[in-house]
Amino acid sequence: MEQHERLLLENKAWAREEVLKDPDFFERLVNIQRPDFLWIGCSDSRVPPDKITQTKPGEIFIHRNVANLVIHTDLNLMSVLQYAVEVLEVKHVIVCGHYGCGGVKAAMTRHSFGIINKWLRNIKDVYRLHQQEVESLPSEEERLNKLIELNIQEQVLHLAETSIVQKSWKKFGRPHLHGWVYDLHDGIIKPISSMPPNSPLEHPIYEYDNLDD
Ligand code: CO
Repeated sequence: MEQHERLLLENKAWAREEVLKDPDFFERLVNIQRPDFLWIGCSDSRVPPDKITQTKPGEIFIHRNVANLVIHTDLNLMSVLQYAVEVLEVKHVIVCGHYGCGGVKAAMTRHSFGIINKWLRNIKDVYRLHQQEVESLPSEEERLNKLIELNIQEQVLHLAETSIVQKSWKKFGRPHLHGWVYDLHDGIIKPISSMPPNSPLEHPIYEYDNLDD
């Protein structure tokens, strides 16, 4: 059997198992999805969102990219965010990074990695913003883990800086924003930042004043 064929075989086994447990499982999900959560995570294969949260199909809307970044010019992420907030009406948006993140690690070096430099540059900005806090730590590992946490915190702020989130906060009092970090060593998620609806932003310059129009 070829490598990829194992996935197809496992898929069949999974579908069969689900129907055995719950005959209406697929039928219920065919026409509607009503997830309460949008998950923005790292693409890392060791951090599968539904597995580590024991959520089922239909429960979380997922977007993943290298180092879980929220970039305002990223049409892909912004489309996902808009759809999740405005159409699916999710109650929570979670940015979940992880310790030992290769993307953050790469951004801490001065190596050129090609096209991904442009993506990682955003993490270098986070480093520069919190330079003192990061550099005050004694070991390389501590500095990396600190930057990983700061990066998550920063991406949560980026979410709050979008007109999509601000508009929804004002009109509907949702979603709640969360910053979490997953530990590869023990599989445990640690919450590190939280922005309930209508939280103050880092600076009023990010606050749009014509969202009622
Ligand atoms: Co990662």
